[in-house]
Amino acid sequence: MIPPMTILITAGPTCEAIDPVRFLTNKSSGKMGYAIAKSAADQGHRVILISGPTNLNVPDLVDYIPVESTQEMYDAVEHWIKKADIAIFAAAVADYQPANISEQKIKKDAETITLKLVKTPDILGSAKQKFGYQGVLIGFAAETENLEMNAREKLKRKGCDLIVANDVSRKDIGFNTNQNEILLISADYIERPPKASKQHLSHIILEHAVDLAAPRDMD
Ligand code: CTP
Repeated sequence: MIPPMTILITAGPTCEAIDPVRFLTNKSSGKMGYAIAKSAADQGHRVILISGPTNLNVPDLVDYIPVESTQEMYDAVEHWIKKADIAIFAAAVADYQPANISEQKIKKDAETITLKLVKTPDILGSAKQKFGYQGVLIGFAAETENLEMNAREKLKRKGCDLIVANDVSRKDIGFNTNQNEILLISADYIERPPKASKQHLSHIILEHAVDLAAPRDMD
């Protein structure tokens, strides 16, 4: 019997405002993160789901914290992660945000306009280094090339215990599909579960997360 844990999950895309009616976003549907949230809640864990806008139903018995921008997701994670035993970062976070948000709707006066973008804060990379989080840390790596090498690099750079990597250049898996094919990479092992539904893979990811958390509980 697995003792119930507190699991923080980020999911969905972020939206970075340009003006009051426009924003930059990406193709993430949130399905992978929501599937993990559902599996974890079904197993009796406390789930804190911090999510960008999606069309999905929030799973029952999940503490749902809706956010829009990367900064809002960052602030929510900073606040809630202290309570977590496991943190799983499935969100497709924008890498850049507009340098300035126009207070008024931008008018179509000029023939061309240039949007200046600045880097967003790295939420996953801040978990251990800035928020002092000491629980199990799991990141995702969305790649279009060199999947294993890039995933290993992210594992180290972001201080993760496990990276769930997937190839987002393939049309049959990843963004906005129900199926996924993932690579699980830790410092000690690499696993390639067969292509499966996101719901099925969410159980595998959760199993790894709980296994990684278990030895720490016995300290
Ligand atoms: N992530 C995050 N905050 C960011 C960017 C990414 O928390 N500002 C998290 C994602 O939720 C994911 C992991 O970092 O768990 C990797 O995201 P990915 O987009 O693959 O990598 P990046 O760090 O953005 O690097 P690059 O785009 O250069 O591959």
